[in-house]
Amino acid sequence: MKVSFAATRPQGSHALAIPVRSEDALNHRLADLDSAARALAERSAEAQRFEREIGAIAETFIDEDGAARRLLLVGYGAKQDEVALHERVGGALTAKLLTSGETKLVIDARGLDAGAACGLAFGAAARSWRYDLYRTKLGRKQKPTLEEIVLFGAGEGAKKAWAAYDAMLDGLDLTRTLVTEPANVIYPESFIERVRAALDGTGVDIQVLDEKQMAKLGMNALLGVGRGSARPPRLLVMRWNGGTPGKKPVALVGKGITFDTGGISIKPAQGMEAMKWDMGGAGAVAGAMLSLAKRKAKANVVGVCALAENMPDGNAQRPGDVVTSMSGQTIEVINTDAEGRLVLADAMTWTQRELKPAAMIDLATLTGAMVISLGHEYAGMFSNDDGLADALFNAGAASGDKLWRLPMGEAYDRIMDSQIADMKNSASREGGSITAACFLGRFVDEGVKWAHLDIAGMAWADKASHLYDKGATGFGVALLDRYIAANHEG
Ligand code: BES
Ligand code: MN
Ligand code: ZN
Repeated sequence: MKVSFAATRPQGSHALAIPVRSEDALNHRLADLDSAARALAERSAEAQRFEREIGAIAETFIDEDGAARRLLLVGYGAKQDEVALHERVGGALTAKLLTSGETKLVIDARGLDAGAACGLAFGAAARSWRYDLYRTKLGRKQKPTLEEIVLFGAGEGAKKAWAAYDAMLDGLDLTRTLVTEPANVIYPESFIERVRAALDGTGVDIQVLDEKQMAKLGMNALLGVGRGSARPPRLLVMRWNGGTPGKKPVALVGKGITFDTGGISIKPAQGMEAMKWDMGGAGAVAGAMLSLAKRKAKANVVGVCALAENMPDGNAQRPGDVVTSMSGQTIEVINTDAEGRLVLADAMTWTQRELKPAAMIDLATLTGAMVISLGHEYAGMFSNDDGLADALFNAGAASGDKLWRLPMGEAYDRIMDSQIADMKNSASREGGSITAACFLGRFVDEGVKWAHLDIAGMAWADKASHLYDKGATGFGVALLDRYIAANHEG
């Protein structure tokens, strides 16, 4: 989507959107239209019971110099402090117009400051994302027509502020694409090639560990997960050094299971196709790295993606197998479907030894139990550091990628003890997201600030929302971008 800012309303064919707050006098908002158009718009808004709720739209066709102009009055609500208000309004507009036949949306942004106007444009652009690559039979009316969004009259500096939002859109696009692509297209090696292409020229330094290098380092927990697959596992490392040279980086670690059959502890067929997005954590980390690099974030950030495919096979690991992780700790693999924690364990050990991070944040579609407890509104957050948890919570609230903190602690941790090894990878269903977090906690070194975000309920949506259509949400990109901006720059 092309987004631009103009001083005045452009000429030519377009749909015109006019935001209306509860307290606005409608005739004032419509002052630029001629009196016939104004009267028509007012009457049709009333006929459509337009009450200016956030994102509500009243549509009218008016006559402008003999042409039929689509006019959208869009509600801005009354509560001006609503988080992501502008994004919601923008998203509502593109959801409405994407396949409407209109190619250009012009938004009257007079009275909006730079941040509000950018939020509006960001929401509009984010909501317009779709992936039609494999739809060869889309009808004419199903194809998107909207190509361009112009905001006019926004406050000083909107054009300049837009660059950071535009970078975030690139990150979202990468994450959503990786998450949407099926597992015959995206597997560890092709994930890396996609990311490499997207990061090309951004200044992000890429390092890849193959299975031989990982074996040498003793990453048997990660390697064990990939054993049943014809697609070999990989560790992808992306370094962005935009901050003070030598300053300890923030490490972002992503679970990248490009397909999770469950392995020998195989999942039921029903719904298994969803497990193509079990790399949503890694996808978010890659997208965040792209967005940070594109806006030249003044911080040192490293993204680490633990990539593997979890398949059943003659070579696959079995329930009951014991593996020695890179940390030296041994793990009894009770359930081969609890594979995310296995790949993350080694990725986190590698990250701490190699990078000595100032903070380590992992993102993972880790447990079905997370979806049961928080549904699709919040990702679960677990942390050993209150300061880090608060910072992430605030970034979540501000970005719209909301987080809710859950407890950890000894009593939960003890549940992961094993008879034969240092720990087991799965226990009873009760508190499943918490015990998974405790498992990961055993791989966090003394003194390392760490947070684990279980995004199982957030990476994919079965229902459209204000910022995305059904499908990949891009959850985590805006969150991480905001977290870095608010805590590690300047
Ligand atoms: N990738 C799944 C978790 C998941 C399930 C994410 C549904 C999104 C939607 C994970 O690897 C898994 O299979 N977890 C098991 C753990 C159990 C075996 C301890 C689960 O949640 O059932
Ligand atoms: Mn699994
Ligand atoms: Zn999984």
